[in-house]
Amino acid sequence: MYTQGLDQQGRPAAKPDALETAEQLAAFQQRVDAEEKIEAKDWMPEAYRRTLIRQMSQHAHSEIIGMQPEGNWLTRAPSLKRKAILLAKIQDEAGHGLYLYSAAETLGVSRDQMVADLLSGKAKYSSIFNYPTLTWADIGAIGWLVDGAAIMNQIPLCRCSYGPYARAMVRICKEESFHQRQGYDILVELCNGTKEQKAMAQDALDRWWWPSLMMFGPSDINSKHSAQSMAWKIKRFSNDELRQKFIDVTVPQAEFLGLRVPDDDLEHDAETGHYRHGEIDWQEFIDVLAGNGPCNQQRMAKRRKAHDDGAWVRDAASAYAAKQAARHAA
Ligand SMILES: [Fe+2]
Ligand SMILES: [Fe+2]
Repeated sequence: MYTQGLDQQGRPAAKPDALETAEQLAAFQQRVDAEEKIEAKDWMPEAYRRTLIRQMSQHAHSEIIGMQPEGNWLTRAPSLKRKAILLAKIQDEAGHGLYLYSAAETLGVSRDQMVADLLSGKAKYSSIFNYPTLTWADIGAIGWLVDGAAIMNQIPLCRCSYGPYARAMVRICKEESFHQRQGYDILVELCNGTKEQKAMAQDALDRWWWPSLMMFGPSDINSKHSAQSMAWKIKRFSNDELRQKFIDVTVPQAEFLGLRVPDDDLEHDAETGHYRHGEIDWQEFIDVLAGNGPCNQQRMAKRRKAHDDGAWVRDAASAYAAKQAARHAA
C-alpha cells in the first residue's frame, strides 16, 4: 500500500520508524493533546500515517463500492422523484470517495496505489456493502440504517486530529444526513401504505439491522487499533459507544414506523437510559470480511470491470495533461 522513499508520483514518503526519536513522538503527542490539527507537511509518526492511510482508503473504497447495492435499484425506483433523489444520493457517494482519495493522497500514497490495493483484494471496504438489495424497501433501510450508522461514525471524524480528513468529513456529514432522511422517508411512505408495503419494510429491517450494528466494528475488547487511534485523536469514541448511540437513536425511529427491531433481547434500561441489545453474530462479520458474504465476488467483479472500462478516460485525461504541460513548457 505504501512504500518508503518516494511514492508513485515521486513525492517524498515518510521516514522509517527507526528514525523517530522520543522527543519527536512526545512533541507530536503534545500537539495532538492540545487539539492542534496535524497537516500534510507536518512531521508525524510513521504508524500514525499508516493508520490514516489504511482508515481513509478503506473509507474511500466503502463509498465507491457502496454505490453498487443502491445502483441496483436506479432503473426500478417507483417514481421519477424517487429516481432523481436516489441518483443524487449515489452521486454524492462517488464524491465522498473522491474527496477521501484526495485527502489520503496528502499522506504520500497515490490514488493508483489505493485503487490497485482495492482491486487486488488487499484493501478492505465496509462489510455492509456485501449484502444484496432485494426490494425497494432495502433502499429505504440503507439510507436510514447504513447512512445513519455512517453518520454516527463520521460526525466525530470532523474533529479528527488529521486536518485534511477532518475537513473532508464536514461536507460528507452534511450529505449523509440528507441520505439518512431520504431513506427514512421511503420507509415512512411504505409503512403508511398497504399491508404488503409495510411487510416489505419489516423484511428490509429484519435483514439490515444486524449488519448495520456490525458497521461499528468489533467490540472494544477485540478492536486491535482502537486504543492507539483514541490516543492520537483519530477516533473520539469507542466502537461499542458509537454502536450504543446508534441503537438508542434508531429504536424509537423504528417504533415510530410501527416496525419491530429483530432482537428478542432488546430492552430499554430505565436506569441508564440506554437500550440493552442481544448478542451480535461476530462470526458472520468475520466471514463477510474474509470475502464470503452474499455479494463479495459480484461487488469486486463489477468494480474491476468498471475500472477496466474506464481505462480510456484515464488515458485521455493523461494525454490531455501531457499536452497542456508541453504547451506550458513551450
Ligand atoms: Fe457517503
Ligand atoms: Fe451516504
